[in-house]
Amino acid sequence: MKYRLALIGLGNVGLGFAQTLSERGAELAEQFGLELEIVAVSDLIRGSVYNPDGIEPQALIDAVAQTGNLDSVPAAERGWDALETIASSNADVVMELTYTDLKTGEPAFSHIHAALESGKHVVTTNKGPVALRFPDLTAIAREKNVEIGVEGTVMSGTPTLRLGMEYVAAAGVQRIEGILNGTTNYILTQMEAGADYETALADAQEKGYAEADPTGDVEGHDPAGKVVILGNLMMGLPLTMADVDCTGITGLSADDIVAAKAAGERWKLIGKLEVVDGVPHASVKPERIPLTHPLAAIGGATNAITYSTDLLGQVTLVGPGAGRMETGFALIVDLLAIHRKHGS
Ligand code: HSE
Repeated sequence: MKYRLALIGLGNVGLGFAQTLSERGAELAEQFGLELEIVAVSDLIRGSVYNPDGIEPQALIDAVAQTGNLDSVPAAERGWDALETIASSNADVVMELTYTDLKTGEPAFSHIHAALESGKHVVTTNKGPVALRFPDLTAIAREKNVEIGVEGTVMSGTPTLRLGMEYVAAAGVQRIEGILNGTTNYILTQMEAGADYETALADAQEKGYAEADPTGDVEGHDPAGKVVILGNLMMGLPLTMADVDCTGITGLSADDIVAAKAAGERWKLIGKLEVVDGVPHASVKPERIPLTHPLAAIGGATNAITYSTDLLGQVTLVGPGAGRMETGFALIVDLLAIHRKHGS
């Protein structure tokens, strides 16, 4: 079955998705019967194009690489903003890929709201609306009999949420702990190898790990958002950002990192969520852990999560936590789930 896609936002994640589609589209169609066709892109900086008969993903990638904008991409319409693209394109699925704002969830919330109201499926990697107002969105999706896929909001393409919600949650999750931000884990790993903070951060931005505003990474708000998402989706806890006791890595100096290394230890930014006597405790904090700790070996932009459960003990998942292609892949997972449910 063919799905026409409207991409709202064409930054790192959108381009990563376009590249995956360009390289693997034929295989996805053959292997799963999942035919994906981009019909619209609307981006504040690069411009907007709409072609109801399809836009080659490689044309988007080439145009951005050569000129930074979409002017050279063949299109029936140009210049539509996000809401017009959602309302007027023939897309079946809206892909919300704009920057994350963990204070308001906007403009992504309005985009997703409009898409669901108009009966279109939504897939998104945007943490803002999921951390802040997910129940509002799922209510509309249910009413309209469409899906909202959010796999890429936690641990990029590593299928943390689907695995967690569809299977692990049945074992009774009591505690969640992990490294939930790729940028800071990459910076800490690079600093331990001798890089300075600024170089490591610039490198993480260049590799597409960091948020548009990397303050959200280094101050811990990004992993705090993921803790909120995990609490709501996995454990049914009505957590908000204000419930997370949050400290980032900006207070750590090169000396702190060298001192830990000399003592056979390592700094990691750890997100935690547990319910004690019925009260949820949620935090993101740097911790100095021994090299024998299971999370000590998780280096670079890799993330890890441990679900502690009643029936199964601990289940740990290790995989990519950030990156263009890695996050773009999460969208494929969500599209495949839509196809499996609605595609017959
Ligand atoms: N900036 C995020 C990170 C991207 O570094 O983990 C993935 O959510």
